[in-house]
Parts: sequence; C-alpha cells; structure tokens
Amino acid sequence: MLGDLWYKNAVVYNLDVETYLDANGDGCGDFEGLMRRVDYLSSLGVDVLWLAPFQPTPNRDNGYDVTDFYGVDPRFGSSGDFVEFVHRAKSRGIRVIVDLVVNHTSDRHPWFRSARDHPESPHHDWYVWADKRPSTWRQGTVFPGHQQATWSRDPQAKRWYFHRFYDFQPDLNMQNPAVREEIRRIMGYWLELGVSGFRVDAVPFIIEEPPRAAGPPKLHFEYLEELRDFLQWRAGDAVLLGEANVLPKEASQYFGGGDGIHLMFNFWVNQHLWYALATGDARPLAAALRDTRRLPDSCQWAHFLRNHDELDLGRLTPEQREAVFERFAPDEGMRLYGRGIRRRLAPMLGDRGLLQLAFNVLYSLPGTPVVWYGDELGMGEDLRLPQRDAVRTPMQWSGEANAGFTGAEKPFRPVVSRGPYAYEHVNVERERREQDSLLHWNMRMIRLRKECPEIGWGEWRTVSTRNPAVLALRYDWHGDALLVLHNFAGEATEVTVRTEAKPGERLSSLLDLEDCEPTAGGTYRVALDAYGSAWYRIGALDYALG
Ligand code: NOJ
Repeated sequence: MLGDLWYKNAVVYNLDVETYLDANGDGCGDFEGLMRRVDYLSSLGVDVLWLAPFQPTPNRDNGYDVTDFYGVDPRFGSSGDFVEFVHRAKSRGIRVIVDLVVNHTSDRHPWFRSARDHPESPHHDWYVWADKRPSTWRQGTVFPGHQQATWSRDPQAKRWYFHRFYDFQPDLNMQNPAVREEIRRIMGYWLELGVSGFRVDAVPFIIEEPPRAAGPPKLHFEYLEELRDFLQWRAGDAVLLGEANVLPKEASQYFGGGDGIHLMFNFWVNQHLWYALATGDARPLAAALRDTRRLPDSCQWAHFLRNHDELDLGRLTPEQREAVFERFAPDEGMRLYGRGIRRRLAPMLGDRGLLQLAFNVLYSLPGTPVVWYGDELGMGEDLRLPQRDAVRTPMQWSGEANAGFTGAEKPFRPVVSRGPYAYEHVNVERERREQDSLLHWNMRMIRLRKECPEIGWGEWRTVSTRNPAVLALRYDWHGDALLVLHNFAGEATEVTVRTEAKPGERLSSLLDLEDCEPTAGGTYRVALDAYGSAWYRIGALDYALG
C-alpha cells in the first residue's frame, strides 16, 4: 500500500535552531524563537521543516558531534520546548523531520569516554578499534586539508580508533547489535515526540565496514531495510531522507527496491545543474536527470540548490568543476576541500534573473525541493568565517541591530553586515513589504509547485528543443500534463517543441497571461527570455470546473 506518499509533493525547508531566532537574548537561536516564526514558515508555504542537529554537543562540527541523542542542547531550550514547537508546526500543517547523526558520536559522548577509559567497558566495542595503525589510516578523509587521517591513536585506550570525519567524531561500530538496538531506541524516542522522519546523516558511511585494508569497502545495504522496517512499524507515514553523495548506478541499492530509504538527495543532478548555470549548456543536466530516472514508485529524489555544507562538485569532471569554480568561486578563499564552494546562492549567481532561473529549475525538477533557510530572501555569505560556517550566519529578519536575530549585543556568530547582502538590505521585514522581492517571488513559486502535483507524483521525460541552452520537461499524471522549459542562456531565444497534445490544444501559461497556440504543423513555438522559464499546462486551465 503506497498511501498518499505525501513526501513526493512536499516542499522542505532546512534550518538550524541555532541561527534562526534568539528569543531569550543569549545571542543564540532557540526553540522559543523558532516557535515565533512558524507563521512565517507557514506563509512561505513550506510543508516540512528539517531541523539541523539540536542535541547537546560541544559544537565542533555545527552540532554533528552529539553527546546525548535523547536531549536538547540547553542553549536551545528543553525537550518540553521541542514538543511545543512540534505541536505548533503541526497545527499549521507543517511536519518536522530531524537529523539522525548515528555514524559517529562526539568524542565527549559518555559512551566514548567509557570506551576509551576502560577497554573492558561494554561501550568499548561500540566504537571501531585497531591495535596497530591500519595501513589505510590516511585514506578517505572527508575534509582534506583540515583533517589528515581517518584513524587516530587514543592515548587513553592505547589503541587506534576509526573516524570517517573529524578525529573528535569517533565512528560507532554498526556491526555491534547493541549499537543497532540503541539507534532504534533513538528513532523511537523522536518519533514518539512527534517527528515525521529523519534526515539520515552520512548514509554510505553508516553501512560501510570500516576500511582496515586497501580496496573498496563492503557495504551492508540490508541495514537500511532494518532501519526502514523499524521506522514504519512505529510510524507508517514517517520517512527517511538520506544523505548519500553516490553515483547514479549505486543509488538503487539505497532505495532498496522501495524497502530502503524513501528520499535521497540528488547530488548528481545538483552538480550538473551548477554546471549548466555556469556554462549555459543544459545538456549534461538533462543527461544527469535521465541517469537518475529509474527509482521505485514509493521513492523520490530530494533536489536542492545549496545546503549547509560546501557546494560539493566532486562528481564533475575536472574541466566541468573548473568551469563552475571560474564562474562562481573565482577566488581561492571561496573554495573548500579542493572540491567545493563555500558561498551562498544569491552572491554566487548575482543576477536576479539567474537566481530565479535556479529556483525555477529547483521547483520543477522531478522530485521534492529542499530550500536552505535564508536563500528564499537571497542572503549572502561571510567568507571571513572558517570553512562551512560562511553560509551559516544568522537569519536576517529586519534592518534592526543584528538583523533582528537577537537582542544580545553579540550574536554567537556575526550577521552579514557588509556589502549588498548586509541585513540592512536583505531581510524579511523589507522583502515582506516589497511586492517584487525575491521572498514574494519564492512564495508564489512554492504555491505554483503545489498546484502541480504532476511533478511529484507523475511520469516525466525530457523533451527535445534542439537548443543546447534549453531544458524542457514534460510531466503526466492522471490525465493532467505539464510542460516546463528553462533557458540557461543569457540571451532570449525561441524554441520549437513537439509534444503530444490534442489537435489545436493550447499551452496555458501558469506564470503569466502568455498562452501558446499550436502552429499549423501541431508544434509549439515558445519564446523564452534570457534565463527565462515557462510553465504550461497542456490544454486549457480547468479551475472554473474545479
Ligand atoms: C554530513 C553533514 O552534512 C556535515 O555537515 C557533517 O559535517 C558530516 N556529515 C559529519 O556529520
């Protein structure tokens, strides 16, 4: 039974409580503040909030280093505040999903402390150890230039422990049944508190056997089905949203024929989309979409433009990556880990037309769009902050001191206060009042996306336009059909499309009053502005009949 598959037609918004709104004046966001903004999020039109980790943490990796999986960091409030927030969101029809960061813990987690202090402790085997330095100790670091090894020696345990990420994030031993049982307990706990699912951090690393010798690691995909089974027994409509930057041919194993992960971020399409934005050539993007086309009916891709990490371009060819770097991150300081960009969407794209094109594509890709907080306004980055923190500055609510984010003199991280993206220019209060602001435009586009369920639930295919700069997609669902075109070139163009329609049937524009009548030959001539998009229902609009 597929149910209504709500997640296939949802718009997801990702935020970090820490940077959203500070209600108690200590300089850092909290659940009380977030609660005050649920109405904003509701009017924006998003259906799901994905919260970055908010559990107790030494905060050396933006909360992805947890010391208590069952708690709320006291800086953000209490478990009671969390439940109140979930209740408030649900009352506005908004679901909440939370990060499940169980590949590793913080090295200050009581489990690791006990594991390293007493090698005979039951928690010792919760982590991954070696007596001698494995030959692979320098291989596979995720943060090159900032973390040199994946195995480090613990002076207390006098053994080597494995950490796929930073050395303060020891990996949990997923082969240990007690660890798996604890993870089920963690999921069960948050489900009882009302969440609708989990964004599963670092999926490929959760299922890999720690690489002790050279060669490809063994992956345990059956574990994903175990997680899914547990989730679905506890909450039939809850979902897993997986973070796995893998090649298209590997993805099907993560979906597990419909018994694994429900939603996977489509990193492959994301990187080719950035290539298209950089070069004006939409063909590799169309190919990337076709590469990731086949997936089980109950599964879905999650699409995004930017997220809280670097814009990872590691899957492009070196020439393609260089083209994106040259256009969008010309200075070395804008780049990170040799493969990515640590900038926000708006400053990278600069031009409003190009920015709208990027969002137009996001909302019309076959999948579920995920928006990174602040991008709906066109917020900028702060390159003076280290690594990925550049894109994690406080939300810009108003032109008041510290962007209205906090009443404290000094926010825990500075707000963007210089240049064209400073909070005096880019903020919610201002954009709410300006009818042609990016915020209003995004609200309209989110509404439009929700009027087009063909995109999430339907069949889709690329349509030939013979213009390398134009991406055209057709969707069909229950007798309704949609045609969406995007021009990645900085010049206006006109393309001819041939698409099945009843003789004489027009294309009804969903963005403006410019419908498109068929030519005598039954084709359609569609005019597109520079970086322009067109959304058409094939046939007449039937609102009146509704
Ligand atoms: C992936 C997260 O997106 C990233 O922010 C984090 O640093 C690593 N996983 C480690 O948890």
